[in-house]
Amino acid sequence: MMQCAIYAGTFDPITLGHFDVLQRASRIFDKVVIAIVRKSNKSAMFSAEERLAMASDVASGFENVEADCFDGLLVEYARERKVNILIRGLRAYSDFEYEFQMALTNRKLAPELETMFLMPKDSHSYLSSSVVREVVELGGDIEDFVPQCVEGHIRRRFPIRKTGEE
Ligand code: COA
Repeated sequence: MMQCAIYAGTFDPITLGHFDVLQRASRIFDKVVIAIVRKSNKSAMFSAEERLAMASDVASGFENVEADCFDGLLVEYARERKVNILIRGLRAYSDFEYEFQMALTNRKLAPELETMFLMPKDSHSYLSSSVVREVVELGGDIEDFVPQCVEGHIRRRFPIRKTGEE
């Protein structure tokens, strides 16, 4: 039977840390779906369409990864897609409480779902989407933070201003 997993998140934007988790998941599962929540309680810098375009470009580098958007409960989306494994990344101990709460809530809502945690490379453990957003807003270099194809999308929205430009 084909084993499929969902890697859900806001991905605003998708970072090298997310990419690392995705790479690990793609080696374990036959198929991985990057599932982008359209609306979350965080205010997003990038629209759902922009986040989907970034994730689709990342997915095109893998044979068994696709990107999609969803609304509403993640457990309902997983049921619709007939998937019962959720992937989450654990970067540091500080992620644990939030992840634990989310995994147990999802289990209560859908007992058939399992959440599996993968740890990204330690060199990426400091990375977060909000750090990337701040660097983007302040005009800094994001080369070491996001996959190259994602940098292209971000730069189309936030071009680097040359010194002296308004
Ligand atoms: N590398 C880098 N950063 C990572 C990371 C990794 N491997 N893993 C997590 N992060 C960071 C993200 O950058 C993000 O940082 P930010 O808060 O600074 O922006 C943060 O950790 C978490 O973001 P992300 O991985 O995109 O996930 P999320 O927590 O935004 O996603 C959902 C949460 C979408 C899975 C959850 O809200 C959900 O399921 N929503 C649907 C509604 C629902 O079902 N609710 C009930 C859930 S219990």
